[in-house]
Amino acid sequence: MERRRFLEFLGKGVVTTSLLPPFISSCNRVASERLFEVNTLISGIAPTNQDDLVLADGLNYRVLLTYGQKISDNDTFGSDNDYIAFIPGDNENEGTLWVNHESVVQFFVSRYSGGEKTKEQVEKEMYNMGGSIVKLKREDGAWNIDYNHPVNKRVNAFTEIPFNWDHEIMGKSSAIGTLENCAGGVTPWGTILTCEENYHNCYGERNFETNEIKYSGSWGKQWHKFYDYPPEHYGWVVEVDPKTGKAEKHVALGRCAHECATVVELEDKRVVVYTGDDKNDQCIYKFISDEPGSMKSGTLYVANTEEGKWISLNYDEQPILQEKFKDQTEVLIRLREAAALVGGTPQGRPEDIEIDPVTGNVLVTLTNNKPKGDYFGEIIKIEEKDGKYDSLEFEASTFLTGGEEMGFACPDNLAFDKAGNLWFTCDISSSSINKPPYEAFKNNGFFVVPRTGPQAGEVIQVASGPVDSELTGPFFAPDGKTLFLSVQHPGDRTKSLDAMTSHWPDGGNAEPRPSVVAITGPLLDTLQGLS
Ligand code: FEO
Ligand code: CA
Ligand code: CA
Ligand code: CA
Repeated sequence: MERRRFLEFLGKGVVTTSLLPPFISSCNRVASERLFEVNTLISGIAPTNQDDLVLADGLNYRVLLTYGQKISDNDTFGSDNDYIAFIPGDNENEGTLWVNHESVVQFFVSRYSGGEKTKEQVEKEMYNMGGSIVKLKREDGAWNIDYNHPVNKRVNAFTEIPFNWDHEIMGKSSAIGTLENCAGGVTPWGTILTCEENYHNCYGERNFETNEIKYSGSWGKQWHKFYDYPPEHYGWVVEVDPKTGKAEKHVALGRCAHECATVVELEDKRVVVYTGDDKNDQCIYKFISDEPGSMKSGTLYVANTEEGKWISLNYDEQPILQEKFKDQTEVLIRLREAAALVGGTPQGRPEDIEIDPVTGNVLVTLTNNKPKGDYFGEIIKIEEKDGKYDSLEFEASTFLTGGEEMGFACPDNLAFDKAGNLWFTCDISSSSINKPPYEAFKNNGFFVVPRTGPQAGEVIQVASGPVDSELTGPFFAPDGKTLFLSVQHPGDRTKSLDAMTSHWPDGGNAEPRPSVVAITGPLLDTLQGLS
């Protein structure tokens, strides 16, 4: 039934490329021109607990970037790599990779295994979060890093970043650092967006009724003990220019546990940015700019998926917001409260958002919502009215539901390839893997759903991550022949060097290292009709 639903989803509303927006974040807009019938049967892999990156036949990988690796004489690659964006260079044999560093595996980065942290430990963690900019060059068909290229640098929890806003945030016009950078997006003008997700883990979150700051328990990073930056400085969408490393925090997009920021450009060059708040019962948002290329001037909306309406979070338009908050800046800082007041629909932890390059529909993963009994999550589809991204009405429906019979649970990142096949990662948390009700799924996996051919609509597992890891950030190189993928937090639950839970990628007795891999192989060619 799921398969039928997927095929219906594929068939319905297929539009010509001329109706698609001029720019969508995935960069794979060419897909509908390339639709072709896959005529080969693809063999997936079975779930496995192997401490390795296991790939389906026809795929192979090389470690491209790994935690601690020098990218220049001054900087090293951070921990817990997540979102990846490839920005094309001046010719087809060069490009720039942006990689998010969502977190740190505390034991391996700072040797933290409990109790009070030292300042030195905290600073080591601060350095290793944020993002990396690394120039790539292609040699003999393979992408390699261009060591010490002038663009290679780190943006991290020490970087001073201004707010793109006319009012100060907690008395400052800039924040120190970006952190907990989960997923992101690319803009039509070649910059990247990196999203500060679980920011409360670093400097806590304020209770706005009592003004007290609450700090995270066992997952807490304790940074506030040495640096007392206000929580309000984090939880933003941050734009970074990969050419210079220059960054700014976009206040107009609101403050929450942003998973991603997916940009669509309208005919008149205004932009629409979709983003979700990855927390139980939190919401899906979109920002519509008033001016071409602006992420400051415009209106933020929250989705009411029951009524199919985007509801304005503009202070001037909403009396209920005027009763509670003093101005628009406060609305944006306290976005969750504002969204609930105007009638945003609580969702099962919105994760990634991608625009289907063939139909133009907006896909959103809802990873799970355990308190509501939703353990396996789903992928939903938003069809904007008349296919217009600035419409304030839409239809929402489910098209893939996680579960044992579907072979996946807790979907997270999405990517479309050049032929419009859907690829997605799963994120069963390390503490839940191999425990009820997740035993059947084993280690976290990576899946493809072919768009055409004998397996159209089937969910096929094509990769399984090492022990305690999560596969994240899939991003295709422009020619579709290389798929960049993050292997995040292998060995996550390790508490001692005598009992490491993973040794990937080096094997033997080596410490595990989060790494970006470059995946290539005939299966990518087969699925996309490449020669
Ligand atoms: Fe960092 Fe929502 O995954
Ligand atoms: Ca993650
Ligand atoms: Ca994620
Ligand atoms: Ca996740």
